[in-house]
Amino acid sequence: MKQKLLILTALMLHSAFAAASETPDAPLKGEEVAVLTDAPLVPPPITRDHPTKVKVDLEVTEVVKRMADGVDYTFWTFGGSVPGKFIRVRQNDEVDFTLKNHPTSKMPHNIDLHAVTGPGGGAKATFTAPGHQTNFTFKALNPGLYVYHCATAPVGMHIANGMYGLILVEPIGGLPKVDKEFYVFQSEFYTTGKYGEAGLQGFSMEKALQEIPDYVVFNGSVGSTSGENSIKATKGETVRLFVGNGGPNLVSSFHVIGEIFDRVYTEGGTKYQENVQTTLVPAGGSAICEFKLETDGDYILVDHSIFRAFNKGALAILNVSGPGDLAVFSGQKSDTVYLPEGGALQTIPQDTRAEPAAKNKEERIAAGKAIYAANCAACHMPEGNGVPKAFPPLAKSDFLNADVDRAINTVIHGLEGKVMVSGETYDSVMPTLGLNDEAVANVLTFVYSQWENNGTEVTPEQVAKIRAAKK
Ligand code: CU
Repeated sequence: MKQKLLILTALMLHSAFAAASETPDAPLKGEEVAVLTDAPLVPPPITRDHPTKVKVDLEVTEVVKRMADGVDYTFWTFGGSVPGKFIRVRQNDEVDFTLKNHPTSKMPHNIDLHAVTGPGGGAKATFTAPGHQTNFTFKALNPGLYVYHCATAPVGMHIANGMYGLILVEPIGGLPKVDKEFYVFQSEFYTTGKYGEAGLQGFSMEKALQEIPDYVVFNGSVGSTSGENSIKATKGETVRLFVGNGGPNLVSSFHVIGEIFDRVYTEGGTKYQENVQTTLVPAGGSAICEFKLETDGDYILVDHSIFRAFNKGALAILNVSGPGDLAVFSGQKSDTVYLPEGGALQTIPQDTRAEPAAKNKEERIAAGKAIYAANCAACHMPEGNGVPKAFPPLAKSDFLNADVDRAINTVIHGLEGKVMVSGETYDSVMPTLGLNDEAVANVLTFVYSQWENNGTEVTPEQVAKIRAAKK
C-alpha cells in the first residue's frame, strides 16, 4: 500500500514537472482524430498531459442555405455551415491537416489558420481545386483562440461568402473548468438585395468595397441562435464564450445585455481582463468571455454598434433557466403615473406660425402627415401601432373611428386616465399639444386616412366648435 502511494506520488510529481517544463519538441505520444463541431457547440476540453499528433479533416462545400426568413444565399463553407467547424487542439500538438474540396465546388479554396507558424498560415500548402484534397502539418506552438479563413483570390469574396471559423489551441494544463462552453462567431454579408429582400441573393462586390453590409449576424444567419435555437444554461453555472469575428470588414463591439464578463481573454490571447462590459473583437480576431450566471432570464448577445443588432441581425439569445435570485435582480416592482407638473395636463408650447390653409382633403392629409411626424409619432409610433401598455394604437382604432368629436377634444385638451382602445386598457397621459385649429384638423384627417381608419375629414370649423364648447 505504502509502495503504491509512493509510486502514485512519483507519477503525479512527474506529470506536473512534465507540464511545467514541456518544450515544443516534447515527444508526441499517440495519434488522434480531432472532434469537429458546428456552432454553437464546441469539442470537449482536452485532458491529455502530453502532445500528440492530431488529424484534422475539413471539407469545403458550396451550399445554398437560409440567411434570413425567405432569404437564401450561396455560402462557401468549411464543413457545410457558417461559421466553419470548431477545431480544438493542445499546445505542442502536431496538427496533420487535410483540406478536401468537394467535386461540386465551382472554385478552388485553401485555408489560412492564424494558429499556424509558417508562410501564409497554410494557405499555399492547402490550395485545393474542386475534387482534390491537400495535406500539410504544423506545430501548435502558441496557445490561444485563433480565426481561420480561406485565402484564395479574391480573398475578400471568399471570406464574405462564409469561409471562416475558430481553432482553439489549449495551453499546457488546459483552461480553467467551466460548466458550459459555446461557439459564437460574428460576420457580415453583402447582398445584391436590401436586408430582408426575398429570394436567393447574390454577393455585392460594390457594397463590400464600401463596407456597407446588409446583414451582420452571429453564426451565419439572422436568428440562428434565438427562439428554440437559443444557447441554454442554468442559474449558478459558469459560461465561456469562444467569440470570433470573420469580418470581412467590421470590428465587433461584443456585449451581452444584462451580464458583465467576469473575465475576458482579450483578442483570444492568454492574459485576461476582469469585469468587462463590452469587448472589441477585430476582424480576423477573437475573444474568450467568461461569466457566472447569478440569476435567470434571457440575455441578448449583440454587436453594440447597435443598428447592426436590431436592424441587421447581430443578435443571439442566451436563455438561463431559474429559479432566479431576487436579491440580484428584482424585475419591475411597480409602474405608476408620474406627473412632475402636478395633476394638471401638461401643455407643449407650439410654434405659432400660421400655416397656409389646406384647400382640399389631399392637402389636409399632406400637411397632417408632417404634424403627425413632429408631434405624435414618438408615442403612437410612425405606423400608428402605439406601444403596448403605454400608448394606444391609432391604427385600426375603434376609439377614433367611433367618435370624431371625442378625437378632436383629445387633441385639443389632452387626455388622462383610463381609456379602452381596441380591447386594451391604457392608463397614461397625453399632453395638450397647443396645435391651432387648422393643425388639429390636418393631423386628425391624416390619421383617419391611414392604417384602415374610416377616412373622416376633419375641418378647422369643426375643431373651432369643439374648442368653443369646452370654454
Ligand atoms: Cu475559398
